[in-house]
Amino acid sequence: RATIIFSLKNEVGGLVKALKLFQVRSNYMYDVPWFPKKISDLDKCANRVLMYGSELDADHPGFKDNVYRKRRKYFADLAMAYKHGDPIPRIEFTQEEVKTWGVVYRELNKLYPTHACREYLKNLPLLSKFCECREDNIPQLEDVSRFLKERSGFTIRPVAGYLSPRDFLAGLAFRVFHCTQYVRHSTDPLYTPEPDTCHELLGHVPLLAEPSFAQFSQEIGLASLGASDDSVQKLATCYFFTVEFGLCKQEGRLRAYGAGLLSSISELKHALSGNARIMPFDPKVTCKQECIITTFQDVYFVSDSFEEAKVKMREFAKTIKRPFTVRYNPYTQSVDVLKDTPSINSVVEELRHELDIVGDALNRLNKQLGV
Ligand SMILES: [Fe+2]
Repeated sequence: RATIIFSLKNEVGGLVKALKLFQVRSNYMYDVPWFPKKISDLDKCANRVLMYGSELDADHPGFKDNVYRKRRKYFADLAMAYKHGDPIPRIEFTQEEVKTWGVVYRELNKLYPTHACREYLKNLPLLSKFCECREDNIPQLEDVSRFLKERSGFTIRPVAGYLSPRDFLAGLAFRVFHCTQYVRHSTDPLYTPEPDTCHELLGHVPLLAEPSFAQFSQEIGLASLGASDDSVQKLATCYFFTVEFGLCKQEGRLRAYGAGLLSSISELKHALSGNARIMPFDPKVTCKQECIITTFQDVYFVSDSFEEAKVKMREFAKTIKRPFTVRYNPYTQSVDVLKDTPSINSVVEELRHELDIVGDALNRLNKQLGV
């Protein structure tokens, strides 16, 4: 234990020496795209939706349904008016919406025991226990957000529709997940051409409650801040094939952890049928794969664990061209931009403090053990 502390302290000492040698100037941020620096900055980008509420495509199941379009406008207006720190408006869902949700919930729950990963199966019952997630009740996003905050530090922001990849990933950097609150059209409960609250709640939420997965998601978000359009596109593709369509191997069997799979009966069956093409998750390869929205994916990527996926993403993030790195500050819910000697020095000081805590804990342990 003494050796560990000694070598860590040596590394920090080496860093300090290196910093003294390289008094780097900080005037090379001129061509970096704007990005949110603090959590409330998300108010500036969360309303830049690519599709707004009631403006449905001609092939959308609700295109000719004026009642549905009016209802979608209601949800869109609520999301557009939302500001950081507001409670998420509670929705009185209609009988039709609860019925649609009920069909999705019932059918998917039949598949989960044999198709979902163990972290998902562990957390799903907690959603029932703490957020009244039942076949006959759609959980309220405000309750889900409070639940997630306690489990993994994630919170939810309501959103009117698709955000650009840059804006969506920026939310993840602050452990904020943008969620739609409307329900898909009732004519076909098992199909939706866009994310809806069934997809968010049954697909995403159980895993966002898992600390290792939350960390993985946040790291993709942090890597995207201030990155070029090309890099953001690559990160968004990695996000798509992990957080949305990712597979993992557990007890020698393939299991799903991607929300797009865990909220789609037909694709969940297909991905684990033995007929789908499966490749190991490798961000360098995965980032070049085409994302398919309208039908099944051509290929799914498998990781051994979120830890493994996180390490690979971390290495990949280092290859992204950016004249700085960022570090999330959970006390202020903001990002520190590490671009010059003083900003890096402040992290070194924090590291020293953390090391002191570890050293103190080990000393106390030694005393207890009489070493
Ligand atoms: Fe999603």
